[in-house]
Amino acid sequence: MENKLYELSRKRRSIRRYGAGYIDDAIIHEIMKVALTAPTSFGHKPVEYVVVRNKDMIRKIGACKQMGGSQINGADTVIVVMVKTADHRQAEFWIEDGAIASAYILLAVEQYGLGACWVHIRNRMGQRKTSDEEIRALLGVPDGYTVLNLVAIGEKGEDKKAYTEADLHTENVHNERY
Ligand SMILES: Cc1cc2nc3c(=O)[nH]c(=O)nc-3n(C[C@H](O)[C@H](O)[C@H](O)COP(=O)(O)O)c2cc1C
Repeated sequence: MENKLYELSRKRRSIRRYGAGYIDDAIIHEIMKVALTAPTSFGHKPVEYVVVRNKDMIRKIGACKQMGGSQINGADTVIVVMVKTADHRQAEFWIEDGAIASAYILLAVEQYGLGACWVHIRNRMGQRKTSDEEIRALLGVPDGYTVLNLVAIGEKGEDKKAYTEADLHTENVHNERY
């Protein structure tokens, strides 16, 4: 049976090395449109994004994560995924809301044959403060938001095999009872 989403999702792999090509602004725009369709708890739409394309700024953001942040240095674009956490009604599901939107972004990126990787920020440390605090200060994000993760995007600079049926953990799916 045709399964277009499976054909897309099996090709999506975490890409951590990037080519030097510039991604068309229009593609980034289309990717962000997909993110904005992601479901959120109670439809509050508390997820906001800073799309960073300036290479100096990308390096500075990477430095806000002590361990492993430099992996974003070669990326063309970094999307900073943050959630409005000031309001307790929006805060309850903030991780879920941010994570689902990020997954949408990862799939949307694959659709254009580009590479992407989730780079974790929550509970990670920067140079002096938490990664979240340092990134928000760098980007002028007002109080009341929390950064969950980054999505680094670029031309694929490494080859990774698409998943096949043999890779699927089909034993993780239980029918009717465990
Ligand atoms: C919640 C979460 C946190 C992750 N954090 C990082 C990270 O900080 N750095 C990184 O390189 N990859 C990170 N990843 C990517 C995973 O390592 C990757 O998805 C996993 O190894 C499976 O590989 P695949 O994405 O190619 O299927 C994260 C993924 C998720 C879902």
